[in-house]
Amino acid sequence: MEVDRIRDAATILRQAKRVVVFTGAGISAESGVPTFRDALTGLWERFDAQALATPQAFADDPALVWGWYEWRRTQLLRVRPNPGHDAVAALAGLVPTLTVITQNVDDLHERAGSVDPLHLHGSLFAPRCSVCAAPAIVESSTVTSPESSPSSSPAPSPGSSSTAGVADEGRRITPPSCERCGGAVRPGVVWFGEALPEDALETAVLAASECDVLLTVGTSGLVYPAAEIPRVAARFGAAVIQVNPQATPLDTLAVVNLHQSAAQALPALVEALQS
Ligand code: APR
Repeated sequence: MEVDRIRDAATILRQAKRVVVFTGAGISAESGVPTFRDALTGLWERFDAQALATPQAFADDPALVWGWYEWRRTQLLRVRPNPGHDAVAALAGLVPTLTVITQNVDDLHERAGSVDPLHLHGSLFAPRCSVCAAPAIVESSTVTSPESSPSSSPAPSPGSSSTAGVADEGRRITPPSCERCGGAVRPGVVWFGEALPEDALETAVLAASECDVLLTVGTSGLVYPAAEIPRVAARFGAAVIQVNPQATPLDTLAVVNLHQSAAQALPALVEALQS
């Protein structure tokens, strides 16, 4: 029974001094942010998200990749944290120490009130120069308005970096130039084949190795090195609790598996902790 499992998870959490919440795309799914492995839709349906999220893709076609990330950033401005994010923020007030580690590049944990979540895969809101790495401030005006109807815009010629038109294959936007060196500004996210931000990774590994309980939420546990985080916690003796409607490789690691969505399971867990 799911109710019993929530109660078991609450009992484990009640005894914990240090808790880590480790989140993936699943926690933002109920806010309307597609998970990385969902097929792309609309303008981007011909593309594979994993093929766009590489340094090679940016080198080959910076305007296509920048356009995709700007589109994602615009989508995010329209969605809100869901009860799953809210419950993670509330959990901070119910346990002595809470560290939030996320693989998500959205800002929904922050907007729900979690303080300084560690972004292992970077952030859509921290672009930087692809040459000198200087942080860049990007005005939202560089984002082509998604409200503008594709049919009312002239289609750009193949390879065009026009911001005005919409190509069949997606919306290209020329990346801005770095104010310091003139290089192309790139999204502040970690692409496939790139190293994770050292500081965030070190802090995350330390928190995982020192925690009593790790709550893993909405992650497939397939993408390394981030997927090591729950495994490190378990190796150092933490109890792992998992929230995921689907089976994952972390099922066998977890002492409690809550096969529910994050927006169902996490508020129920917070409520059980408060009672
Ligand atoms: N609540 C909880 N979990 C959910 C929900 C939900 N409402 N909806 C989907 N899930 C689960 C899915 O069952 C799946 O296991 O979320 C997981 C999402 O898996 P992925 O798409 O693989 O996302 P994630 O684990 O975050 O991927 C890790 O890989 O693609 C890269 O950089 C990208 O940060 C991402 C990383």
